[in-house]
Amino acid sequence: LGPADLAGRRVVVTAGGTREPLDPVRFLGNRSSGRQGAALAAEAARRGADVRLLAASVDEVARRTATAAGVAVTDVTTTAELRDAVRAAVADADVLVMAAAVADFRPAAPATGKIKKDGGAPPTLTLVENPDILAEVAADRPHPRLVVVGFAAETGEPEEVLALGRAKARRKGADLLAVNAVGTDRGFGDVTNAITVLDADGEVVGSGAGTKAEVAATLWDLVADRLR
Ligand code: C5P
Repeated sequence: LGPADLAGRRVVVTAGGTREPLDPVRFLGNRSSGRQGAALAAEAARRGADVRLLAASVDEVARRTATAAGVAVTDVTTTAELRDAVRAAVADADVLVMAAAVADFRPAAPATGKIKKDGGAPPTLTLVENPDILAEVAADRPHPRLVVVGFAAETGEPEEVLALGRAKARRKGADLLAVNAVGTDRGFGDVTNAITVLDADGEVVGSGAGTKAEVAATLWDLVADRLR
């Protein structure tokens, strides 16, 4: 049996990837499976927390990981829906972990009917920027004891990934930022993961590698330290 160091804590975890409609049948999305977020939610539940997973199109493995551990799941699709769900859920939470891959942009005006080939020029997509949910919550906390944790998936060589993570940690204002290297064959959907955890100043406070469950345990050890 592991530690019960999150007993009595309310935890909100986001997982998966948001999808932005182009038309009624198409969307802009990403490769996130939601498995790391689900592993984080499940590990928090095992440590005694009351956990809600805000699930943005997570796969079936992720969903089962969460529900089997007794995590309550709320499904969302778009970034706007996720933002509303996060705002509602953090009001009485102790910890928010933003593990979801949130779409940075959305189509400015989704088509109301299916976009068709009409023999002319291909359509041009106009995108608008989405709000940064993590930065918003970090800057405008419902209460000062909320611990805010972000994830940063970066591509590149290890030093480059860390440098990007440091800049992002300072910019986002989260208490902790878990940085991981991704590519089409790493991180997203993969069974293993590796994270380096930075504080709000960009200083390294811990790291862990292994299965997504092992990575989750590493992150909760660091969060539990902050809650004490
Ligand atoms: O800027 P970037 O997308 O790399 O930052 C990743 C972190 O920020 C993740 O924790 C993600 O959930 C969060 N994020 C967000 N809203 C966005 C974009 C990212 O909350 N629009």
